[in-house]
Amino acid sequence: MNGMIVKNMSFKVGQTLTVVGVTKPDASNFAVNIGPSEQEITMHINPRFNAHGDENTVVCNSYQGGSWCEEHREGGFPFVQGEEFKIVIEFTPTEFVVTLSDGSQIHFPNRMGAEKYSFINFDGEARITSLELK
Ligand code: GAL
Repeated sequence: MNGMIVKNMSFKVGQTLTVVGVTKPDASNFAVNIGPSEQEITMHINPRFNAHGDENTVVCNSYQGGSWCEEHREGGFPFVQGEEFKIVIEFTPTEFVVTLSDGSQIHFPNRMGAEKYSFINFDGEARITSLELK
């Protein structure tokens, strides 16, 4: 992990987190990670232009107990290298719903089942320009 970290957040069930950023012109991938601590990720959202064998695919997963769990691929790929992107995230006690800028959605289980998460971390080749929690 090497990007920006937000600690002591209070992202709760029923709230909407909107992340806006710009990917690097030669970005291979970037990630938005949400979890209860720096060590545990309940929702890893990883748009891959070209990384780990995937092309133009959003890979989601969770990182629990020191390892990655089962990957999930869903949604469109409205990301362009060097351009602005927007990711909208909401969750319930059972699932995360991620809406991309083309209107496509990703439904990913809330595997840790919590109703509040306090860490958000950004990793990879993108710069976050705005973070809004409503
Ligand atoms: C791995 C990758 C991690 C993460 C994980 C998701 O291959 O190294 O950064 O994206 O996949 O399952």
